[in-house]
Amino acid sequence: MMDILHKAPPLPPFPHRLEGRIALVTGAASGLGAAIAARLAGEGAIVWVADIDEQGALAHAATLAGAQAMTLDVTSKEQWHSAIARIEAAHGRLDILVNNAGITTMGSIETLDVEALRHELEIDVIGVFLGCQSALPLMKKTGGSIVNMASAAGLKADPGLVGYNAAKAAVTLMTKSIALHCAKEKYGIRCNSVHPGAIHTPIIDKVLAQVPNPEETLAGFLSVHPIGHLGHPDDIASIVAFLASDEARFAIGAAFSIDGGMTAL
Ligand SMILES: NC(=O)c1ccc[n+]([C@@H]2O[C@H](COP(=O)([O-])OP(=O)(O)OC[C@H]3O[C@@H](n4cnc5c(N)ncnc54)[C@H](O)[C@@H]3O)[C@@H](O)[C@H]2O)c1
Repeated sequence: MMDILHKAPPLPPFPHRLEGRIALVTGAASGLGAAIAARLAGEGAIVWVADIDEQGALAHAATLAGAQAMTLDVTSKEQWHSAIARIEAAHGRLDILVNNAGITTMGSIETLDVEALRHELEIDVIGVFLGCQSALPLMKKTGGSIVNMASAAGLKADPGLVGYNAAKAAVTLMTKSIALHCAKEKYGIRCNSVHPGAIHTPIIDKVLAQVPNPEETLAGFLSVHPIGHLGHPDDIASIVAFLASDEARFAIGAAFSIDGGMTAL
């Protein structure tokens, strides 16, 4: 199994495009968020590592130059307001917001419990909405970049992912609406979504733990990735760093697929 998961060769040295930028990454204690926080810090940003998992956020922030940890449940409007107020007090600005925190709930229209759907939507959709809404007043002061973590599952349906499909499709269109609003109001804030295929992080292990036949499920993941292996968290961190940087200055309201060919199938 590890062969299939870790086939990607090391990335070339990355550029240094985010010197002095202030960044907030949610769900940054683990998986993609942790890789994104590390990459933004590696490119010179001052990163706030935010997660509902306080210990995880503290532990990861301690490994990154200039980073700080923050406990943040993305479903809480009050916690978002405190988080943004803390960043404003510390820096007076926020240049980069990565709404990455999310969960994946398995289930078809016949098996998914409505309370599980509500929970999924609360984190994956309302969490992103609250992040954008809470950060806009501060980000408007200087302009910046918002990256919302969607999924290939926001563009392509799966019979066993009805809730996740609904959540990530909502993030996809919500991102475009926010981007158009910011462009219309000339805030200098770009907003885009990123759509990973299956990337080996703890979320994949949680999905495999939920199904009766994990080997078959993993084989199913691979069969829909023409590249022949799962992605690495750094693959996603690379595109987020690009979108956060001025190199992406013409990218507004776009959905960036990075999925080993999954949505090209
Ligand atoms: N791994 C993949 O294959 C994959 C593919 C497509 C999209 N995504 C998306 O990428 C994002 C990150 O996924 P991952 O694979 O790194 O998952 P993960 O489970 O490794 O990490 C998710 C992080 O979010 C945090 N979190 C959960 N609920 C939260 C809340 N209410 N408030 C704040 N933080 C919370 C968790 O503590 C955890 O640290 C998710 O939005 C996911 O849907 C992942």
